[in-house]
Amino acid sequence: MDTPQRANISVIPTGAALGADVVGVGLAKPISAETFRQIEDAWHTHLVLRFRGQRLDDPALLRFARLFGELDKAPIHAGREVEDPFPEITVMSNIRVDGKPIGNLGHYEAVWHTDMSYNEKCPIGSLLYSLEVPPQGGNTGFSNMYQAWDTLPAALRREILGRFCRHDSSRNSAGELRKGFSDIDDPRDAPGAIHPLLRTHPRTHRNCLFLGRRHNAYIMGLPLDESEDLLNQLWAHATQPCFEWYQVWKAGDLVMWDNRCAMHRRDAFDPDSRRLMHRTQVSGDKPYFDPKTLDLRA
Ligand code: SIN
Repeated sequence: MDTPQRANISVIPTGAALGADVVGVGLAKPISAETFRQIEDAWHTHLVLRFRGQRLDDPALLRFARLFGELDKAPIHAGREVEDPFPEITVMSNIRVDGKPIGNLGHYEAVWHTDMSYNEKCPIGSLLYSLEVPPQGGNTGFSNMYQAWDTLPAALRREILGRFCRHDSSRNSAGELRKGFSDIDDPRDAPGAIHPLLRTHPRTHRNCLFLGRRHNAYIMGLPLDESEDLLNQLWAHATQPCFEWYQVWKAGDLVMWDNRCAMHRRDAFDPDSRRLMHRTQVSGDKPYFDPKTLDLRA
């Protein structure tokens, strides 16, 4: 049994609205409670952390991820065996073996989203480890939803206070209809969980915009045209480049994001190149808004 490393880590912010590199720790070996505490603090400060040059097998990835909480089981998907030795690992890949995809999402663009916000409980975060990367494209963007709320014009802030949005569960972030769902013409008919538009992070107690996905979203209780108009304004604000940072992948990068306060998207890439990622997701909680956190003078 390895002695847990008490690593001398440095946290180097990207200089953008979110994201930091954590250097000085190899996650192939267990880490000490003190090192974990430093990493978790950095995660809460920077929302997205990158660990470059890692050499992780699935057990090492899962051991590190479990420090943050219980892990969700990956959905049964292309390439995943029912008798999977690591059911908490989702393969994200465009690679095909014998004509069959070995993973999810192919080479497509994934639009801005929060993972699984169409469920009552949403994951607190995800960890994505790169094994093979294409020479170009397939970059993953992240966007800071604390800053989106902090800079939201006062009139829009007033409009969304106390309002809830329904998050469509019928399509994935590549726009594909999920198995068992039929196409929706009217966002008011979309299936999916209902969450507050303003959300309080349970650990930092800071508030952030909580948007999920744009497609078929609906703000409860509003006429459809007003819901569409308000959502368009919120999305136009939240997806401004000033809130973003893009991860340009190298093999051996581990990137983890806080799904409570950061949205993400992915660029498409050449289908003839190969991209292979292993991903795991930390189980979540029900998003809520705590009115005590709101400074009404703001
Ligand atoms: C995703 O989780 O939406 C995709 C991330 C990626 O493949 O870079």
